[in-house]
Amino acid sequence: MCGIVGVLGDHEAAPIIVDALKRLEYRGYDSAGIATVHKGVLESRRAVGKLVNLSDRLVHEPLRGKAGIGHTRWATHGAPNEANAHPQSAGTVAVVHNGIIENYHALREELTAKGAKFLSETDTETVAQLCRYYLDEGASPQEAVEKTLQRLEGAYALCFLFETDDNLLIAARKGSPLAIGHGKGEMFVGSDAIALAPMTSKITYLEEGDWAVITRTSVEIRDVNGKLANRQMRNIQLSAMAADKGMYKHFMAKEIAEQPTVLAENIGHYISDDHTRIDLRTDEIDFSKVTNITMVACGTAYLACMVAKYWFEKIARIPVEVDVASEFRYREPPLNPNSLAIFVSQSGETADTLAALRYCVEQNIKTVGVVNVAESSIAREASVVLPIYAGVEIGVASTKAFSCQLATLAAMVLYASQQTGQTGGHDLAELVSAYHALPGIVSQALQIEQEVRAISTELATATDALFLGRGDMYPVALEGALKLKEISYIHAEGYASGELKHGPIALVDKDMPVVVLAPKDALFDKTVSNMQEVMARQGKVLLITDKDGLKTAGHGVWRSVVMPRVHPVFAPVVYAIPVQLLAYYAAVSKGTDVDQPRNLAKSVTVE
Ligand code: F6R
Repeated sequence: MCGIVGVLGDHEAAPIIVDALKRLEYRGYDSAGIATVHKGVLESRRAVGKLVNLSDRLVHEPLRGKAGIGHTRWATHGAPNEANAHPQSAGTVAVVHNGIIENYHALREELTAKGAKFLSETDTETVAQLCRYYLDEGASPQEAVEKTLQRLEGAYALCFLFETDDNLLIAARKGSPLAIGHGKGEMFVGSDAIALAPMTSKITYLEEGDWAVITRTSVEIRDVNGKLANRQMRNIQLSAMAADKGMYKHFMAKEIAEQPTVLAENIGHYISDDHTRIDLRTDEIDFSKVTNITMVACGTAYLACMVAKYWFEKIARIPVEVDVASEFRYREPPLNPNSLAIFVSQSGETADTLAALRYCVEQNIKTVGVVNVAESSIAREASVVLPIYAGVEIGVASTKAFSCQLATLAAMVLYASQQTGQTGGHDLAELVSAYHALPGIVSQALQIEQEVRAISTELATATDALFLGRGDMYPVALEGALKLKEISYIHAEGYASGELKHGPIALVDKDMPVVVLAPKDALFDKTVSNMQEVMARQGKVLLITDKDGLKTAGHGVWRSVVMPRVHPVFAPVVYAIPVQLLAYYAAVSKGTDVDQPRNLAKSVTVE
């Protein structure tokens, strides 16, 4: 979602800020802006749409000054227009904000009654106006920000800039992450460390409720109680991988191709040196004491949980409940004290998933965060963290994070079997060996790329598509539909293939592409019989199966894609590849913005 940058530099700030905002583009945004202070004058430029519009504006109306703040805004309160873009200014203060100020209505009314004139519809302007009010009363910038923060309810990452001092930024965090970057005689603020990667690798993350007074040579952090806080400075090496597409046209293509490598990295962390056992590298989880599992996540991460439910139940024989975080958090589910709650999130910052985690922490349930971003809120607040080692994921549509989430969850399942001896009739040694072989099979699966590309070009002309799968292929069908919707804007639905005749088959006609995910496993015949029902109604079937599956059922299908043979348990990891490629090439063929699809944000930090 919104991106924040602050610079107290030694050089002109505007180009540095624009550059840093470019690295935050992946988060999703619909307007952008910058404010700087130069010779005692605070000025800002804002523009709707992509950053190039802001850059164009800056060419004609440059901003001078070595101190500045910048923002990419993903609209929540008020349309994405120039007036609502950040920075929001009032008097001598400008502010950029990520999050939602929940009591902004009341504050706005109060300030309006005191004479404030609001120029935008945003909740953020309330913050600027409140700070201005305290400044006008004679408070120093530090005092004004402290008083302002005390009045705010909701979630925020904020960065304030003052006309009266071009050696001062004040940053505050509650609910949305914020990092301070330490340079030599320079200081930076960023909503994530990627924004700051070329400027510095020395990063301090603010903790919940912290606020920091920053000059070019000092940082003073106070905690939620106003006490001076000592936060660790870390060396974060991001520059090598940050925001580089390499030889690829899109980050999504790069991230799809990276899957064998990141899976190998992931599996290497969770398998013993002799590759015969799972080692979660923590003694904190004892599955022999776990009666049931609750899994909570959003979007693609939720679909990874759905796959894991099949695995946990069939193999480790532990009952699992899976819920989307936005529902779970308000359902107030009673939780068994011996249950384990697993939260899966690439970013580790998804507001609903974080709230669901906090609910479980309050209920004294053991929590596990399966996250990609190691410094994220979910990683910090869960009792146990299992990183997915996917590396930075920039494309808004999650690909390599999905397969690494699956690999990490698979490791948990096998570890549970190891601890409890329950394997659901599977040979555990064979499963561990199949798990270890996954990166190689995913690499083979990627060889279908050109074939899928040709099919996608045809698929791109459709207005709707169906994805069908049974058992653990059902969540992969849902993932295929989600990917296609989000980046190609083709309407798509995923169904459990047995559900087809309970309604969706009415949609099938000669124009309807139906993607059938059917490895030749125990459920193959059942899925194929549902596929026949589609074909009997002239539906255009794209069958994704293996060599044996094609031999048995390939006759008369519209198109087919042949996948390498894989142990049936791990087929979801491998069958995710063709659905990712289908969506990717359909989007490329339609010319949509693959890495930053409309209306979407990479990390959904508001509910
Ligand atoms: C879809 C996608 C989203 C995310 C969801 C959760 O391609 O990327 O559905 O999976 O917003 O995000 P995280 O995993 O960061 O919690």
